[in-house]
Amino acid sequence: MGIVIKNTAELEKMRQAGEVVRAVLDAVEAACVPGTTTAELDRIAARELARRGAVSAYTGYRPGGVRAYPAVLCTSINHVVVHGIPSRKHVLREGDIIGIDFACYKHGFCADAARTVAIGIISAPARDLLAATRACLARAVSACGPGSRLGDLGAAISAHAGAGGYGLVRDFLGHGIGRRMHEEPAVPNVGTAGTGRRLKPGMTIAIEPMLTLGGSAVRILDDQWTVVTDDGALAAHCEHTVAITDHGADVLAA
Ligand code: MF3
Ligand code: CO
Repeated sequence: MGIVIKNTAELEKMRQAGEVVRAVLDAVEAACVPGTTTAELDRIAARELARRGAVSAYTGYRPGGVRAYPAVLCTSINHVVVHGIPSRKHVLREGDIIGIDFACYKHGFCADAARTVAIGIISAPARDLLAATRACLARAVSACGPGSRLGDLGAAISAHAGAGGYGLVRDFLGHGIGRRMHEEPAVPNVGTAGTGRRLKPGMTIAIEPMLTLGGSAVRILDDQWTVVTDDGALAAHCEHTVAITDHGADVLAA
């Protein structure tokens, strides 16, 4: 199908979906305190979503052969990199970090975003990991602009992660986004500057670096979704949906 360019009206719909994503993540983040279960976070997301007349893009999502995703939100604690499934058995504790990842459809368009937040006071290395992951995302967004190339984004992310000595997960990628959650192009977190597809105004992409305090290797648990670091090291993930503009990138969902 190729990369779909969005017009102004379509970008406006994506921005509205992005507003819902931000509101849902804000409500979920506010509940990220010791003692909360991730099932409770999922209920909060469902409630906020229903109030705003949007639907989760994750619930029932079923990429080739995998069982349908069974929750509204992804909640990924500590060594879980992405796609953690909310559960009554997962209770947040002081010192944990949790990735909260959410996308919704509104007016036929999708926006996707994630953040990793601290539960109470966390260790200095964990704090640094969160800061580095956010900085990687910010650098990738800054690398966007008309005429820049996809490889510039991966190069910006991998250079910053590498300089800090962090592991960078390569097995999961960012993606184009629009009428569907996953569109072309794939948006890798590694790359060579000056290579890859050229970005054009009206392209909309989700950029999502995943860093670890250990290696890059990950595996998927028997539940078919939960992605964990192979070495058990802490991992962090953050994601924005952005639109390429005439001048750079416009964040539609954060
Ligand atoms: N942000 C992730 C992605 O773009 C979330 C997908 S989670 C799922 O792939 F639950 F929908 F699978
Ligand atoms: Co995504």
